[in-house]
Amino acid sequence: MGVEGKVTLVVGSATGMGRETVIRLVKGGATVIAFDILGDKLEELKSELSDAPGSMEPYAGDVTDKEKIKGCIGHIKDTYGTLDNLVYVAGALDMMTPAHAVDDELWDYIMDVNVNSAFRFVREALPLLKDHEGRSANIVIVSSLGGLVGSSSGTAYITSKHAVLGLARNLAWTYKENNIHTNAVNPGSFKTAIMDNQRLRWPDRPPLHPEGVPKYYKGGANVLNGGTMLGEPVEIANAIMFLLSDEAGFINGAEITVDGGWGSF
Ligand SMILES: NC(=O)c1ccc[n+]([C@@H]2O[C@H](COP(=O)([O-])OP(=O)(O)OC[C@H]3O[C@@H](n4cnc5c(N)ncnc54)[C@H](O)[C@@H]3O)[C@@H](O)[C@H]2O)c1
Repeated sequence: MGVEGKVTLVVGSATGMGRETVIRLVKGGATVIAFDILGDKLEELKSELSDAPGSMEPYAGDVTDKEKIKGCIGHIKDTYGTLDNLVYVAGALDMMTPAHAVDDELWDYIMDVNVNSAFRFVREALPLLKDHEGRSANIVIVSSLGGLVGSSSGTAYITSKHAVLGLARNLAWTYKENNIHTNAVNPGSFKTAIMDNQRLRWPDRPPLHPEGVPKYYKGGANVLNGGTMLGEPVEIANAIMFLLSDEAGFINGAEITVDGGWGSF
C-alpha cells in the first residue's frame, strides 16, 4: 500500500478511528508518532503493537496547547528529519447543544479541538511536508457528515466540521505545486469512545442537551433506532489508509464520506 517506512503523525489516536488507523499503519510498517491527550491509552497501544513491523511513538498532549503542538513537530524534525503524512483525527462533540444554549467555553473548546488545532498542526508541519520527491506528502483530515449537512449534531460541532472541510479544500489547492495532497474523510455514525471522551471533558454537563436531541438528523432514525447505521472505526481507518496509499497518488482535494448511506439524500 505504500506506508512502509513513512513517518506519519496521527493526532487523536488513543481511541476510536485514530487508534484503528495507528494499528493499520504500524502493521503496515509505518513509523508512527501518535498524539493524544490520553497518554496511558497510547502506552497500552504501543505495547499491543510491539511485534508489528512498524513503530509507534506515543506523544501525550492536549491539542489545545499551542506550545505542545510546536514541541511535537519540533521533536519530529529533530528525531526523524521529515514527515510524510499528517492525519488529523482528533475531535470533540458538543452534547448536541443548540445555538441559544452554547456558552463561550463550549464554543471555544469545540472550535479549538476540531478546527484551530488542525490548522496549527498543519501550519507547523508544512515546512516538513513541502516539496517531497516522488509520492506526495499527505494531509488527511477527519471531518464528519456533519461537515456536509446542518442537522447531525449541535451548532458548534456542525460549524467546526464545515470549517475544517474548508481548510482541507484550501490546503489541497494552495499546496498542490509543493507536492502535498490534502483530503478529508467524513464519517457518518460510528461505535467509538467519543461519548465517553466527551464525558471526561464535561463531567458536570448532561451528555446530550435535551433541546438538541429532537433536532438530531431525522429524529435519530439512524443512530438511535436500533443502531443499524453504526459503523466500525476500522472502516474510517481503511479510508485513511487508501488516501495515504500509492493507489491514491492523483487524489487531492477529495472527500470520502463513509456513512453506510446515511447521508444519501
Ligand atoms: N464517532 C462518530 O460517530 C463520528 C461521526 C462523525 C465524525 N467523527 C469524527 O471522527 C473523529 C474521530 O472520532 P472518534 O469517533 O474516533 O472519537 P474518539 O473520541 O474515540 O477519538 C478522538 C480522539 O481524539 C482525542 N482527543 C480529543 N480531544 C483531544 C484534545 N483536546 N487533545 C488531544 N487529543 C484529544 C481523544 O482522546 C480520542 O483519542 C473526530 O474528529 C470526530 O469528530 C466521529
